[in-house]
Amino acid sequence: MSNYHIKQFEEYYHVYRKSVRAPEQFWEEIAEEHFYWRKKWEKVLSWDFTKPEIKWFEGAKLNITENCLDRHLHSRANKTAILFEPNNPDEPAEHISYKQLHERVCKLANVLKEKGIEKGDRVCIYLPMIPELAVSVLACARIGAIHSVVFAGFSASALATRINDCDAKMVITSDGSYRGAKTIDLKGIVDEALDDCKGVASVLVAKRINSDITMKEGRDFWLQPLLDEAYNDYTAEVMDAEDPLFILYTSGSTGMPKGMMHTCGGYMVYTAYTFKNVFDYREDDVYWCTADIGWITGHSYIVYGPLANGATTVMFEGVPSYPDFSRFWDIVEKHKVTQFYTAPTAIRALAKQGTAFVEKHDLSTLKVLGTVGEPINEEAWHWYNENIGKKKSPIVDTWWQTETGGIMITPIPFSTPTKPTYATLPFIGIQPALMDEHGDEIQGNQVEGRLCIKYPWPSIARTIWGNHQRYKDTYFSAFDNMYFTGDGALRDEVGYYRITGRVDDVIIVSGHNLGTAPIEDAVNEHQAVAESAIVGFPHDVKGNALYGYITLKGSSEGRNQDNLRKEINQLITDRIGPIAKLDKIQFTAGLPKTRSGKIMRRILRKIASNETDQLGDTSTLLNPEVVQSIIDNAL
Ligand code: WTA
Repeated sequence: MSNYHIKQFEEYYHVYRKSVRAPEQFWEEIAEEHFYWRKKWEKVLSWDFTKPEIKWFEGAKLNITENCLDRHLHSRANKTAILFEPNNPDEPAEHISYKQLHERVCKLANVLKEKGIEKGDRVCIYLPMIPELAVSVLACARIGAIHSVVFAGFSASALATRINDCDAKMVITSDGSYRGAKTIDLKGIVDEALDDCKGVASVLVAKRINSDITMKEGRDFWLQPLLDEAYNDYTAEVMDAEDPLFILYTSGSTGMPKGMMHTCGGYMVYTAYTFKNVFDYREDDVYWCTADIGWITGHSYIVYGPLANGATTVMFEGVPSYPDFSRFWDIVEKHKVTQFYTAPTAIRALAKQGTAFVEKHDLSTLKVLGTVGEPINEEAWHWYNENIGKKKSPIVDTWWQTETGGIMITPIPFSTPTKPTYATLPFIGIQPALMDEHGDEIQGNQVEGRLCIKYPWPSIARTIWGNHQRYKDTYFSAFDNMYFTGDGALRDEVGYYRITGRVDDVIIVSGHNLGTAPIEDAVNEHQAVAESAIVGFPHDVKGNALYGYITLKGSSEGRNQDNLRKEINQLITDRIGPIAKLDKIQFTAGLPKTRSGKIMRRILRKIASNETDQLGDTSTLLNPEVVQSIIDNAL
């Protein structure tokens, strides 16, 4: 009866066909059989990509935390839900059972209510990868507050922008965080951000590094004493399937980050179902995703997907290089990890260290390996396959986005034959299309185009918070009646997809999406800068790195260039965060422009990538003479 767990390739095709022939019936069956609803839906799906408006399981009532916690209490009360591995390997790991997690979530839910947080209010969570992060996410969901997790590597000004955009009433943070041998003053960053955020009434502070911080009277509260006083049960708020669950910001090619809004019902069904199948999850597995909960991968595949399946999910606070490069493998061995899900940039960084760190460890418990976040190059794929998977664990190269909520194109392990660098086939229910520049769908195989999705799936983001027009313009306007992903892809002779990368001005650096425009805005704030253009170029560990072309104001041309580079990168660190720093900065007399004054980034990209033989005709530019001087001085 159930199509819940796919174990064979023929079965994949069978279930896939069913899911696209009668999507509503298909998802209705999955939703009905595998989740706990307070009330059933009246309509499975209504959608209109022109508005755009998408609703799944309309009229249904649920609380996602009852599916992630309560319903496991009778059969899995003492099973580990979250296995917390601290930054310092000498600090013991913490096994938080389903019962304990339920209690911790309920206590925090009571604290949130007591501090005046109501259903629909936004709560910004700015925490390191410690259990309080997952507990905070779930506590918000329990009371129906909308969480907005901000990755704790973002700067004060990036944090303030996100807090203000969604008008958050509260921030949950910690005194500080550990990152390898370093500590970071998170509370200090929050204090600085809040100078610009008038709507935040309270800040809850978890103690992690025992640093000396200032607490603002009446606004800041230590979390632990409040939890100690709180009651350990909380009746979950009954939510509509289409009520917002969370907002998560992602970079756009221009301007403000986009607050992607996800809703309760469809998101739950899709993340749980993909988790089960993409990782071939079984009851006694120990699953580990190395992402941070500050990104969508952590939301869907550390917290919601695994917990909805009653899984044990590892949460790692640290970094792969601390105390040394064997840390990941040490954790796999120590906790007998069965599924390991990471990013190509991490694989490349580890591969660079050779195999000595790997060989010391017993990795025999691993059965499925995953990758996400950017295209994986062939060399990294083989290294992962040979040295970590020992050629027996399938690699699931999972393509998806913050906007899609869950995995979209991926092999199903032990079912889909894998092919290096290919995300292979659409997941159940997903209908991809490749489009040409005229807006027509490209049929057949061995073709390349812009990747779109033709039909809604349950976890598609419903809007950009506060800006539905931008949602429409960004995703539903490039092609008629299609969701446009912003990625290019090719389809090989058997119909497998390979994602070739972004086709817009988003650059993926070490797996982080960065829009060029906000970085240029930060650079242009420097008083010596007249104009700048930022492009990506290939980097052997980060995938892409950033190359800035900068023209200086006449009065600053004589300034020491190394000092200027430092100042500019510091400005980027302050405005966005260290992840957006430029690897190369070239000062130039001018930037190549079209006659209408548009900067020709295509040319700058070619120069940065050392492909100057492919520049094409530059004679029609407004200022063709600058091109040669940029090439001559390229870094
Ligand atoms: C890229 C991360 C190739 C892609 C879940 C996408 C990938 C963007 C893959 C979304 C993959 C993600 N192969 N490219 N397996 N996975 N991408 O929103 O460009 O942080 O549009 O979501 O990452 O990044 P985001």
